[in-house]
Amino acid sequence: MEQELVNLRTKAGQQLATVEDISQLEDFRIQFLGRKGQCSTIMKSLGKVPIEDKPRLGQMANSVKKEIESLYDEKRQLLLSNTASSSSQNDSIDLTLPGRKPETGKLHPVTQIMNEVCAIFESLGFSVAEGPDVEHDHYNFEALNIPAHHPARDMHDTFYVSDSILLRTHTSPMQARIMETRQPPLRVIAPGKVYRCDSDITHNPMFHQVEGFLVDRDVSFADLKGVLTVFTQKMFDKELELRFRPSFFPFTEPSAEVDIACVICEGKGCRVCKHTGWLEILGSGMIDPEVFKMVGYDPEVYSGFAFGLGIERIAMLKYGIDDIRLYYENDLRFLSQF
Ligand code: DAH
Repeated sequence: MEQELVNLRTKAGQQLATVEDISQLEDFRIQFLGRKGQCSTIMKSLGKVPIEDKPRLGQMANSVKKEIESLYDEKRQLLLSNTASSSSQNDSIDLTLPGRKPETGKLHPVTQIMNEVCAIFESLGFSVAEGPDVEHDHYNFEALNIPAHHPARDMHDTFYVSDSILLRTHTSPMQARIMETRQPPLRVIAPGKVYRCDSDITHNPMFHQVEGFLVDRDVSFADLKGVLTVFTQKMFDKELELRFRPSFFPFTEPSAEVDIACVICEGKGCRVCKHTGWLEILGSGMIDPEVFKMVGYDPEVYSGFAFGLGIERIAMLKYGIDDIRLYYENDLRFLSQF
């Protein structure tokens, strides 16, 4: 009997080692621990052993049975946790599924238009120059023939940093900065941010302009017209009629505001062009001799034209957007469309 119990313990251990899944484990349970299993058979045969051996053999039989039960429990836990982790692995990784696309960033629509404007002028031989956003009163106004108390200063709602330092209200100061340091012939564009204390659906306190100017001998208004015609055709991908309206800027003489036939209705009249058929896109003119004198150019020798255009305005026209503030609310649903 004693030997039988030892054999049973060994046999159970060996057999359990070959069990690989829950259904084999169930067979094992029935075979060893079931009602008619080997443990209960041995327990039953305890009735036949001599009375003096009963306590010792009974104890031994009990502990063998407990041992087999705990081996069984251990194995069961092991098999269950294996199947749980392998099935959760199967659930979470399906190698045949397409990967998740990472969101790619894009250039802001204003930056895109800015790059496009610059590329068009570069193709016409203009070089690009950038200047400071925080500017001297001198370059923003004085050097452009706008002295203190000149009524033209009214057009600019200026953010002042101090009496003589301000946030530039336009990119035109780059005319003076460049002409001061270089000699003609010059063909330059200056893109950048400008600031005015103004905010409504068509005005933002910060916006972008591109300044352009060309200085050489014998430059005429026809050259200005030619350059701007090529620019608008390339920018809007169609031959749009241009209209020059006499205007006034202290740093150009004569000055003109330039309109294009409405890109939306092509001149028929719509909400965007306020039923005029025309859209104003830029200010321009022949550089004033006073500006030349201030930078030391001889106005008898040199002439030139200049223009300044608003990037947001062009972007609004190109994309048919009527509220400038959308560009600066950082709403990705809006921005990712471009
Ligand atoms: N600086 C002007 C503005 O911001 C725009 C402008 C008008 C620029 C005429 C020019 C120009 O170069 O010739 O309103």
